[in-house]
Amino acid sequence: MSPIQPYPVSPLRSVPASIPRPPYIGHLGPETYTGPDVQPPDVIERMREAGRIAAQAIAETARHIAPGVTTDELDAIAHEFICDHGAYPSTLGYRGFPKSICASVNEVICHGIPDARPLEDGDLVKIDITCYKNGVHGDNCASFGCGDLDQASADLAARTREAMDRAIKAVKPGRQLNVIGRVIEAYANRFGYGIVRDYTGHGVHTAFHSGLIVLHHDEPRVKTVLEPGLTITIEPMLTLGSPRSHVWEDGWTVVTDDLSRCAQFEQTIVVTNDGAEILTTP
Ligand code: MF3
Ligand code: CO
Ligand code: CO
Repeated sequence: MSPIQPYPVSPLRSVPASIPRPPYIGHLGPETYTGPDVQPPDVIERMREAGRIAAQAIAETARHIAPGVTTDELDAIAHEFICDHGAYPSTLGYRGFPKSICASVNEVICHGIPDARPLEDGDLVKIDITCYKNGVHGDNCASFGCGDLDQASADLAARTREAMDRAIKAVKPGRQLNVIGRVIEAYANRFGYGIVRDYTGHGVHTAFHSGLIVLHHDEPRVKTVLEPGLTITIEPMLTLGSPRSHVWEDGWTVVTDDLSRCAQFEQTIVVTNDGAEILTTP
């Protein structure tokens, strides 16, 4: 397997004028969010719709993963699907990100820019899609094999999903936010996987990234307590080797320093009265 290299990026895709844009579009970045992360029922109801479209967009896009298909083609499929459902692809124009999805292959941890690289047999492909509709975001990611995936990569992907699922099951009102990182770290350690610390989960609702940080490792100094109505992502990135990362000169593409492979899964959840509800449900 040769290292992933940058390929040409296609021109910006357009979004029908009838689809409302998030407030950061046309600006260098979003305004700092200063409101609460606990959200009222009407916001959560709207997040169910944005989340459903984001989850369906991943499923639709992933159907097209095959050797020879470019990540730009996957971006086009997702872009059309999201717009057809009256939503805006939240990453397009977010802090200057040029595409509607993040497509991160093999040692690319996250924030891969879709480009003209044809997928190869054995690639580990992460598709991260966020949709904005009715003033709220739904953010999710999943890892897929292209063609025949080697056993180590397949195990990494399955266990990264399991780490996320276990963290979601551990979410209960009254517990500490840190239960999420504690559960993920304990599970990842069983297999000797690296846990990426440079990128985290986050509060998500009317803001794409609210400022609240959700760690995927144990940090007992975090004293935030889970409360019903809190809306966050859980999005562990686990690596076969070192979790240390650097960013390409494009300012976006995050890769492992040792070029070891990375898997990621992400859901948007809301804390309920007795656990958590996944809002990015197809
Ligand atoms: N969806 C990513 C996340 O999980 C964020 C992508 S921001 C981008 O938080 F600008 F890289 F697209
Ligand atoms: Co996220
Ligand atoms: Co995401």
